[in-house]
Amino acid sequence: MSEEKEMTYSEAIHKASSSITRFPLIPVRGVPLMNYIANNWDSIWAFRPHPSDLLIATYPKAGTTWTQEIVDLLLHNGDAEACKRAPTPVRNPFLEIVSPPPIPSGLDLLEKMDPPRVIKTHLPFQLVPPGFWENKCKSIYVARNAKDNLVSYYYFDLMNQTQPEPGPFGGYIHKFMQGELSWGSWYDHVKGYWLEREKRNILYLFYEDMKENPRREVERIMKYLDLSVSDEVVSQIVELTSFKNMKENPMANYSCVPSPVFDQSISPFMRKGEVGDWKNHFTAEQSKLFDEDYEKQMKDVDIPFRTLI
Ligand code: A3P
Repeated sequence: MSEEKEMTYSEAIHKASSSITRFPLIPVRGVPLMNYIANNWDSIWAFRPHPSDLLIATYPKAGTTWTQEIVDLLLHNGDAEACKRAPTPVRNPFLEIVSPPPIPSGLDLLEKMDPPRVIKTHLPFQLVPPGFWENKCKSIYVARNAKDNLVSYYYFDLMNQTQPEPGPFGGYIHKFMQGELSWGSWYDHVKGYWLEREKRNILYLFYEDMKENPRREVERIMKYLDLSVSDEVVSQIVELTSFKNMKENPMANYSCVPSPVFDQSISPFMRKGEVGDWKNHFTAEQSKLFDEDYEKQMKDVDIPFRTLI
């Protein structure tokens, strides 16, 4: 254990640089996942959380990191220094991630932490290890409107050298609509958690609500976690988790992941942080086609997404 302590997360990624490549996707029960995840699926599925563990689940690029920072600050009563103890993926392990050695997997990091732990996942509801529901763990789901989510994911796939090449934006829209991107269909993802939210006591949040009124959403998370911090501390948390402050926070902006994996010269992890940026990317024709398909894919549910605020 002490040997591993000597290597930081960033150093481990540097060491693995030569094995970094845009990993192919392999379906796990129909959901395309990075080959490293698919090849380790049995151990991920078997993970048994502690009842006090908290799950933060999202489709990639829906506001995971932002929510993680809010939760960490709430759990530390707004103590900014305490929340700079380590970068986001070390503070809140990414449940299913498996990367080339010596990069620790999500399960490796979790094993070394005592509950209560805050665990991140991008797995769709049906692939979340059943232990979370058996143990009645709390879970927060964050959803972001499809068009902004797609644009954010596109830039992420350009810069994340472990994700499949996004290709041209027009073709990427089709891949998104067909559920061919890593972690599968956005439509199935947002619907899966939506339909289970009451039965499983999932706090279902929207990125757009967080942008519109961060204070209200921080308070909502606080209540869900049965925490009570002062109004002043809530204000402090809202300030510390503004886009601008998180972009400058080395423990939240993913500068811990070196450029062979996240090439932030292509697109920064903290890119824009806006609602409605899709308008700068979709042509009128692409938007129409997307909306028509959206109607079909979402006709069985009424999830109140907003593409503008
Ligand atoms: P953009 O690419 O649209 O800028 P995730 O953490 O799930 O990977 O999501 C990343 C997206 O959330 C990026 O969106 C990022 O800029 C945005 N984001 C991160 N922190 C944020 C914050 N504090 N406020 C608003 N948006 C934030």
